[in-house]
Amino acid sequence: MGMIKTFRSVVQFQSLSMDPVEWRLRKAASIEDLRLIAKRRLPHGVFDYIDGGAEDERSLAANCSAFAGYEFRPRVLRDVSNLDTTTTIFGRQAAMPLIMAPTGFTRIAHSQGELAVARSAARAGIPWSLSTMGTRSIEEVAAVSDGEKWFQIYTWKDRALVKDMVDRAKSVGYTAVWLTVDTAILGRRERDVRRGMTLPPKIGLSTIVDGAIHPSWTLDFLRNEPITFANVTGLLDEDGSSAVTLSEHMARQFDQALSWDDIDWLRSIWDGPIVLKGIQTVADAKIAQRMGVEGLGLSNHGGRQLDDAPAPIDLVAPVRDEVGDGATIICDGGIRRGSDIVKALALGADAVSIGRPYLYGLAAAGERGVDHVLDFMRDGLERTMALTGCRTIAEINRDLVQRRP
Ligand code: GLV
Repeated sequence: MGMIKTFRSVVQFQSLSMDPVEWRLRKAASIEDLRLIAKRRLPHGVFDYIDGGAEDERSLAANCSAFAGYEFRPRVLRDVSNLDTTTTIFGRQAAMPLIMAPTGFTRIAHSQGELAVARSAARAGIPWSLSTMGTRSIEEVAAVSDGEKWFQIYTWKDRALVKDMVDRAKSVGYTAVWLTVDTAILGRRERDVRRGMTLPPKIGLSTIVDGAIHPSWTLDFLRNEPITFANVTGLLDEDGSSAVTLSEHMARQFDQALSWDDIDWLRSIWDGPIVLKGIQTVADAKIAQRMGVEGLGLSNHGGRQLDDAPAPIDLVAPVRDEVGDGATIICDGGIRRGSDIVKALALGADAVSIGRPYLYGLAAAGERGVDHVLDFMRDGLERTMALTGCRTIAEINRDLVQRRP
């Protein structure tokens, strides 16, 4: 009897909600599940641009697998009935120690692109970041989200263009900047080479076939405004309105001469916190700290730049030991669960950032897919805190993890 009742309630539950997005998301129990949905829905070239990494993709794989190299030392009997995941990042409240990393070309995952991700982050109470290579402008996003917003800078050879973007970001309330420092030239992403990937996607025979077998993405793409580099539209002859390969574009526009001297220049045009995104050694963390940089973004660009770069999670403890309490450490790369957030914090990070996970969510189910990712991360963070005996973010400390023997 009990079994029949249970069966009936399950059947009723499912027939009540035939909303296809909900249907899709209900089965997505993990980020990997969302990744597989994204893989099914996106044209191969688009999926591989998001999902892929540099060369043999060893950095990409190691970013995730390095988390398995740590295990918890959970404490019990600590009354975890009231958990508090809130924290402060650069003196500003965040609902949890998680930041949406900047990603380029976000609209190739879904037409709403950055608008959807920023709205979702604002609802979740966490910072969101706009890429220089974003496909919605600084102002367009500010108009739909009053959440915490950070701006990411690539340094164009034309510094006036960078200053203009930074000024615009400041005037509409962005509160921090990331300076990406691991992209002097673009990494070799061999999946993109094989696919002949351009941005925006070029319509050729193979893309027509690819588009035809992924109709929901194709309709969304065709029905909406063309994808451009929204922050430089009209300012550059190469503003994304015609297809180029990413490496051609970066080689022509971005300044390979960027050096530590430019930090002072950035300081002269921006008075808020600066995060160097792409610190990969203790030695560089030390220089950054000496120069008064507020944030150390331990990152290898999601394994998209130098292959065989160190996994960011392995840098957290050595960098924290070197810089002491003096800098905000953000661990970026391979975070796929709330338990990964706890590990990074236990080793000494102040926050983590994610890129691919929200792009998978966006591709799988638009804005609701991003909400799903953030619910999943918060839920995992809370569960891990409860199971390790941490009631607050401050209680997550070095005693909580050890290298797996
Ligand atoms: C852009 O930053 C990319 O990694 O593709």
